[in-house]
Amino acid sequence: PGRLKPAAHIVLVGFMAAGKSVVGRELAARNRLKFLDTDQLVADAHGPIPEIFAARGECGFRELEARGVAAALAEKTPAVISLGGGAVLDTGTQQLLRRATVVFLDTDLETVLPRIIRSGHRPMLAGDPVRRWEELAKARRPVYESLADITIDTRGLPVPVVIDRLTTIL
Ligand code: S3P
Repeated sequence: PGRLKPAAHIVLVGFMAAGKSVVGRELAARNRLKFLDTDQLVADAHGPIPEIFAARGECGFRELEARGVAAALAEKTPAVISLGGGAVLDTGTQQLLRRATVVFLDTDLETVLPRIIRSGHRPMLAGDPVRRWEELAKARRPVYESLADITIDTRGLPVPVVIDRLTTIL
C-alpha cells in the first residue's frame, strides 16, 4: 500500500542473473505493458556488451548504459524496465528512479550460479566469478535496498513463482 506510484514505470533492479529480464518481459506481457531492457538498448545501439567493455572499459560502458536508462525512463507510456545490475550506481539514474516504482529482485549466489555458468559473457565477473559476484553483491545490496519500493526474496524460487508474487503485490 502506498508503494505504487501512479502511472509510473515499473523498474526491476538487482544482481546479475537475478532474473530481471525474464521476469520483466513476462510481467509486461501479462499486464499488456511495453517492456524495455537497458542491456538490450545499449547492445542494439553499440553492439555486444563484452565488446563494449573490451573497447571502452567499464567507464565507457557505464556512460552508454546511463544514456540507455535515461532513454527508457523517458518513455511516455508506463512500461516495465529491466536495468543491468550495475546501472543503479549512477547518481543520475538514482535521481530518475525516484519517479519509478522500483522492484528489487533479491537473490543469492546459490540461486544465480547455475545461470551465470550457463550464460557466460559477463565481463564484471571475469577472473574469479564467485569471488567477484560476492564483492559486487556486498557493495551493491545497500544501493538496491535504498532504492527499492518493493523487495522480492527470489532465493530458490523459479521465475514463474517470482512473477506470480510480483503480480499479487502490484
Ligand atoms: C553488469 C550487469 C549486466 C550488464 C553488464 C554489467 C553489472 O547486466 O549490464 O555486464 O555490472 O552487474 P545483468 O544484470 O542483466 O546481468
